[in-house]
Amino acid sequence: MRLIGGMNFLSDTTAPAHPAILDALTHANQGFASSYGADPVSAGVKTQLCEIFETDLEVVFTVSGTASNALALSVLCPPDAMVLCHDEAHIHRDERGAPEFFTRGAKLLPLAGSHAKIAPEALSDALKQWPSDFVHATPPAVLSLSQLNESGCAYTLDELESLIGLAKARDLNIHMDGARFSNALVSLGCTPAEMTWKAGVDILSLGATKNGAMASEAVILFPSARDRLPQLLANQKRAGLMLPKMRYVSAQMAAWLKDDLWLDLARTANAAAKRLSEGLSAVDGAELVHPTHGNEVFIRLEDALAARLREAGAGFYSWPDGSARFVASWCTTDADISALLDAAG
Ligand SMILES: Cc1ncc(COP(=O)(O)O)c(C=O)c1O
Repeated sequence: MRLIGGMNFLSDTTAPAHPAILDALTHANQGFASSYGADPVSAGVKTQLCEIFETDLEVVFTVSGTASNALALSVLCPPDAMVLCHDEAHIHRDERGAPEFFTRGAKLLPLAGSHAKIAPEALSDALKQWPSDFVHATPPAVLSLSQLNESGCAYTLDELESLIGLAKARDLNIHMDGARFSNALVSLGCTPAEMTWKAGVDILSLGATKNGAMASEAVILFPSARDRLPQLLANQKRAGLMLPKMRYVSAQMAAWLKDDLWLDLARTANAAAKRLSEGLSAVDGAELVHPTHGNEVFIRLEDALAARLREAGAGFYSWPDGSARFVASWCTTDADISALLDAAG
């Protein structure tokens, strides 16, 4: 199947939706169904997710990663407390203050670490500098980790254990921004449970949109956070994010999860990114700036090389750190990568 052609590496959000998603919408479009997420399709996805994550969880559907993150943080962080995240975190840099807005004023504290991974020393320093029992200090309440992160890297299970261990020792809640969760999951080759609640994650923002859905995201509350569901639903309603015809959002996720489609699509995208990363970094004038763990490649290109690629029709973004970002998606083909590498010479 060829839905788009050429070398479009701008973002996985520029990719079309997978045909199975559109079929699911047509299938869901039959007859009447209860509103606001009380429909059988949404209930079915909850059952699927409980099986996949091997636990008794709660799920609330949204249509953007920003909404998922903001809603998740709204029930994890009090207004007078603080979310610790990486300096590159999407919640810090790219959500126009939505987490602060939804938490009614909580503070975000950006932390350092290479490749957009929080360094354990940066976290322990911050925990030392911000005591919970000093009335003048804003107490840390949440650690938010992006998996896959903003530099296209995945935390290993050991890295998750060490960061979450430090945070839990101070009773912090753990949020995982999984806008590209599936790409990280197939990269690590672990189970969804191992990468989340077994590692101590309380709430996961699970994204399907970047990996084949049209608009389908979920906030997943693991058993440690299930009691926050009523407040989460209240906040979802209050924000105007409780869609009346929610079945169309959950139907996308049902199809995405069915028969491991989500994992297959992530494997395709990751494999394309790996080939692009290896091929392009072997070219004169190109230097990889972050390891490629998922479907994103960050690479510094000499001006002449970047211009040559753009002239050949390649689409990619110039990143603020001076690198070029190439994103592969579920529908990136071998031919797309070959064309790019041929153009690179
Ligand atoms: C790490 C990460 N989190 C969350 C998001 C959510 O984005 P959106 O609100 O555009 O769906 C993105 C989008 O690029 C992202 O890269």
